[in-house]
Amino acid sequence: MAERRKKYVIANWKMYLNADESFKLGAALQKKIRVRRGVEVGICPSALALHEMSKKIDKKIIKLGAQNIYWRDAGAYTGEISAPELRGIAQIALVGHSERRYIFGEQNIDIKKKVASALRSGLTPVLCIGETRDEKDFGETSEVLYDQILGGLSELAAEEVGKVVLAYEPVWAISGDGRNARPATEEDVAEAMRLIRSHLNHLYGKKVAESMSVLYGGSVKSDNASEFLAVEGVDGLLVGSASTKLDEFVKIIEKA
Ligand code: PGA
Repeated sequence: MAERRKKYVIANWKMYLNADESFKLGAALQKKIRVRRGVEVGICPSALALHEMSKKIDKKIIKLGAQNIYWRDAGAYTGEISAPELRGIAQIALVGHSERRYIFGEQNIDIKKKVASALRSGLTPVLCIGETRDEKDFGETSEVLYDQILGGLSELAAEEVGKVVLAYEPVWAISGDGRNARPATEEDVAEAMRLIRSHLNHLYGKKVAESMSVLYGGSVKSDNASEFLAVEGVDGLLVGSASTKLDEFVKIIEKA
């Protein structure tokens, strides 16, 4: 039942803000929001800003997250950041965001190891799943979601699966340079939520399926946030570009 599940509103600042801008926006946001029972607010800033922000942000008000991690713990891996390196700095890790999948070629084989690695280091993995426009048009949404859920969670023991947060982000709804994005309709989201819960139920049983928080992301703004939050099965939002504007993001948080 939805009321037992934790709600999340998570900002994904992508490569929109530099370290200084991230730091300032994080500080301003912290002043504007209050702790809410049952709603976790998170920010995933540039990796450059994480360490400094972790010293100033009150984790009771805002959790910090990495936009990506590498699954090995340490070693000769140029340019990567591991989950153990984020201990004490971040509490969340986005994994398998569609920009990682489709621009940087990430596959389930990496993604499942990243999810497991995040959990080993005490981070909450937010596993992003969602179909492309073509996959939707060809009626493949259900298979794609099944493949991404199983592909992302298959490295975990059964009792660990429930610790993962899922984010349904249809690729065609995510805003970005030169993309012809449009927000999903409530029907699109409701149908995807039904499919996701049914796949989880099939794979891991009813208890796990009902306990996992599933977020929606893709062109969320303050004026459509309530519609998505009202969809059965939606436990929060993953917000990209709108989360980089202070008042806009505060309004979105207030809707939750
Ligand atoms: P958007 O991005 O809100 O800018 O569409 C969402 C996301 O990619 O997480």
